[in-house]
Amino acid sequence: MHEPRRAEAHEAGGGSDESRRLLEAGLNLKPSGRVHAPSSTAPPESASSGAAGEITVADPVFSCRDLSVFYGDKRALKNISVDIGRRQVLAAIGPSGCGKSTFVRCLNRMNDTIPGARVTGTITLDGQDIHDAASDVVRLRARVGMVFQKPNPFPKSIYDNVAYGPRIHGLTRSRADLDEVVCTSLQRAGLWSEVKDRLKALATGLSGGQQQRLCIARTLAVQPEVILMDEPCSALDPIATAHVEDLIDELRESYTIVIVTHSMQQAARVSQRTAYFHLGELIEVGATEQVFGNPQRKLTEDYITGRFG
Ligand SMILES: Nc1ncnc2c1ncn2[C@@H]1O[C@H](COP(=O)(O)OP(=O)(O)O)[C@@H](O)[C@H]1O
Ligand SMILES: [Mg+2]
Repeated sequence: MHEPRRAEAHEAGGGSDESRRLLEAGLNLKPSGRVHAPSSTAPPESASSGAAGEITVADPVFSCRDLSVFYGDKRALKNISVDIGRRQVLAAIGPSGCGKSTFVRCLNRMNDTIPGARVTGTITLDGQDIHDAASDVVRLRARVGMVFQKPNPFPKSIYDNVAYGPRIHGLTRSRADLDEVVCTSLQRAGLWSEVKDRLKALATGLSGGQQQRLCIARTLAVQPEVILMDEPCSALDPIATAHVEDLIDELRESYTIVIVTHSMQQAARVSQRTAYFHLGELIEVGATEQVFGNPQRKLTEDYITGRFG
């Protein structure tokens, strides 16, 4: 819990970029003599291999290369290079403040909305640079939907919440079309049977778990390719959490999912790949079984065995 303060203390001592770089290089973040060049001075290729494990996958949906994010002078992500595979779940884990939310926000350019935030490096979605001048950010956010920690339904009816996206994106031609999209999205989100008789009721009257599945339905209604979930179960009780986890497992047949989670059990249950972040760096990424069963970096091992975080 106190990790971020330590991170800030290190960085605050940094002063100039150069001294910060030296400080980071001297932090001895790399245990057991495994050398890992300070990524800011390394060429893109070697920076790309900064993380232990396999950063590339066959047929990636997203490819991030040398991705860094700054909030003002503070660097929150450092040369992250990683691919995100199609129709699988990538779990982003790591101590609080290590940059997990910052990372997922890059994927649909949500950091663009934060004053003072600056993103460098490249991210391609299906081979196309998402920062390209020709890239339409509204369209991007429909293709890459986001579900937040706290369910955030609009103060509208259940129906209107799910219909919102298709309406603003002009995805349906008739009321019957829209009805169909609302119904299908609620079914996919595992909520239909619970709400089909009260679609006109206020969404804010649903339980927390139902609200979160409604938010997932709202995301599904605009036919995304990727769903980003930032600690989607943190505000839910264990039964509602199990419901959402089951749903994630079903959704990965059709969608790519990136989930940030504080729960290592959850990461192990729902993901096929796991990425471990520490102080803004991607330390290790690989098959979830391997990362949890046979971590290659001591930092990863310390975290998953509960030594810190
Ligand atoms: N909007 C912001 N403005 C300034 N600093 C931020 C902002 N959001 C996050 N940070 C900082 O960036 C670092 C990474 O934060 P975050 O991505 O939220 O981490 P995590 O999700 O892993 O807890 C932290 O040190 C945090 O304080
Ligand atoms: Mg976060």
